[in-house]
Amino acid sequence: MMSDDWAQRSLKAVWHPCTQMKSHEDFPLLAIQRASGAYLYDHQGKSYLDSISSWWTNLFGHTNPIINQAIKNQLDQLEHAMLAGITHEPVVLLSEKLSALTNNQLGHAFYASDGASAVEIALKMSFHYWRNLGNGDKNRFICLKNSYHGETLGALSVTDIPIFTDAYSVLTRQPIIVASPDARLAPAGISAESYAKSCLTELEELLQSSHSQIAAIIIEPMVQCAAGMAMYSADYLKGLRLLCDQYHVHLIADEIAVGCGRTGKFFACEHASIWPDLITLSKGISGGYLPLSVVLSTDTIYAAFYSNNTSQGFLHSHSYTGNPLACAAALASLKIFEDENYLVKNQVLSQQLYDAFTWVTDDLRIQDIRQLGTILAFDIKSQIAPPQFSKIFYAKALEHGLLIRPIGHTVYVMPPYILTKEQIQFLASAVRHTLDSICPL
Ligand SMILES: Cc1ncc(COP(=O)(O)O)c(C=O)c1O
Repeated sequence: MMSDDWAQRSLKAVWHPCTQMKSHEDFPLLAIQRASGAYLYDHQGKSYLDSISSWWTNLFGHTNPIINQAIKNQLDQLEHAMLAGITHEPVVLLSEKLSALTNNQLGHAFYASDGASAVEIALKMSFHYWRNLGNGDKNRFICLKNSYHGETLGALSVTDIPIFTDAYSVLTRQPIIVASPDARLAPAGISAESYAKSCLTELEELLQSSHSQIAAIIIEPMVQCAAGMAMYSADYLKGLRLLCDQYHVHLIADEIAVGCGRTGKFFACEHASIWPDLITLSKGISGGYLPLSVVLSTDTIYAAFYSNNTSQGFLHSHSYTGNPLACAAALASLKIFEDENYLVKNQVLSQQLYDAFTWVTDDLRIQDIRQLGTILAFDIKSQIAPPQFSKIFYAKALEHGLLIRPIGHTVYVMPPYILTKEQIQFLASAVRHTLDSICPL
């Protein structure tokens, strides 16, 4: 069967995520038959370079032989067992590994399947911690302007992107939203650093008056991704850690998108040499293979739940918590990361991306070029971008053999770490040709 046939059948039977389904009347679905390395292939054999790592998940290429083999081995050993009252080798090894990656600062791993569930867990854990200490009034959460932490009701309660939150506002608890240190929001004549400092000052005023009601602040460290790859300085994170300590508020670092080496450090918080109280991790952790998320917590938080009293424990669960196949995929991914020294390799990839995209710096259609690690982004000036820019760009890029999904007017790439120099060149020129065909110079 051809790709178009599968696309038609999918439109009838599958309700696709993050999609107004009617938009597929104008923008057809892309049916993929197989994938290998950095490429997805349709049923006619046409290839698409996966420049966004299939939404941050795919770090070491599709159908990676090492991860494939690890899952196959695990499949013949133990496919799944409930984690309540039972444990198994892959979940223990993965938890130990993750603890070691935090220098054993966050040594207790609680598992779920998707990013949003990890966010729910972190929020519940923070509140429950304070409740166990007799501080149940600390039950509100702070998030940053334009933040995104997922789309379940709890995660939406700390998300500030109207297209996702508005319809459900009566169902969700309102967060306290504070200024985002997004460098692009710095007023004219004010440096990004001074602006980030002023955001901290505003936060401090809030904490002074309200810290007794606040359980935690949740942030996406270094890059607010769904806000359009909004980047900010590590100094903001340093200041945030100090304020959280001073006012007894948990710092939750949502590393679901930016973790696993994407920004140039394994955890983005390491840019600021700080550790949060809770880390959420997902997406890249299983190498893009299987749903897996995890919340890492400190000894202090863990100890507040350790009791003879059952209801003082953290009684949250999901059926597939700590699934052995997903843990095996994660262990294989972490092994590749370490064995092949991807922290160093990604410095090269980062530089190659920078070099391949130098054309954007002189391009009058483009502003706010930014890069951290292997995330490179820029904005198309709004007076130039046609209506429905992101959809049109996505569709045109497919014609050029590229999978890319702008957010609003922000074009960004965050490719799998295995990209070759030639593939990077192809990526940069496909972006340029796509832009030329939509917004001619
Ligand atoms: C920072 C952040 N947090 C949470 C989530 C939610 O993860 P999931 O889509 O797996 O529920 C995402 C997803 O994009 C994210 O980028």
